[in-house]
Amino acid sequence: MKYYIATDHAGLEFKAFIATLLKERGYEVVDLGPDSTDRVDYPDYAKKLCNEVLKDSESKGILICGTGIGMSLAANKVKGIRAALCHDAYTASMARAHNDANVLVMGARVLGYGTAESVLDAWLKSEFEGGRHAQRIAKLES
Ligand code: RB5
Repeated sequence: MKYYIATDHAGLEFKAFIATLLKERGYEVVDLGPDSTDRVDYPDYAKKLCNEVLKDSESKGILICGTGIGMSLAANKVKGIRAALCHDAYTASMARAHNDANVLVMGARVLGYGTAESVLDAWLKSEFEGGRHAQRIAKLES
């Protein structure tokens, strides 16, 4: 499984932390930037990452901004993307199990690193349950 990861200027160190965790857990990571703390606009990076995730069905994405709100708003404008803003392990787990989310969004100014790691691990361990949830995803996509 490949993970695309991107942020805005608010989440540069946070992005590096999450990318390291993903690599330690055996995932391929493609960092879509940015690579400096110069101010950027989160919709640009959300669009870039979502396009990559949609092109590669074996991939998922992680988006980060200060609160996670801007990135989740932007990502969910892209058809086929189901981006879940998660601030705790339970919602991260359910985002995969019930919502088949393909992009995890986190707020770098909201989460401490310990919580972020538990969010990431809950997301990684959880799988889409299908069944009744699949028909809801189909409605979302239509
Ligand atoms: C940047 O200051 C901040 O607005 C952005 O990272 C994000 O939190 C927006 O939702």
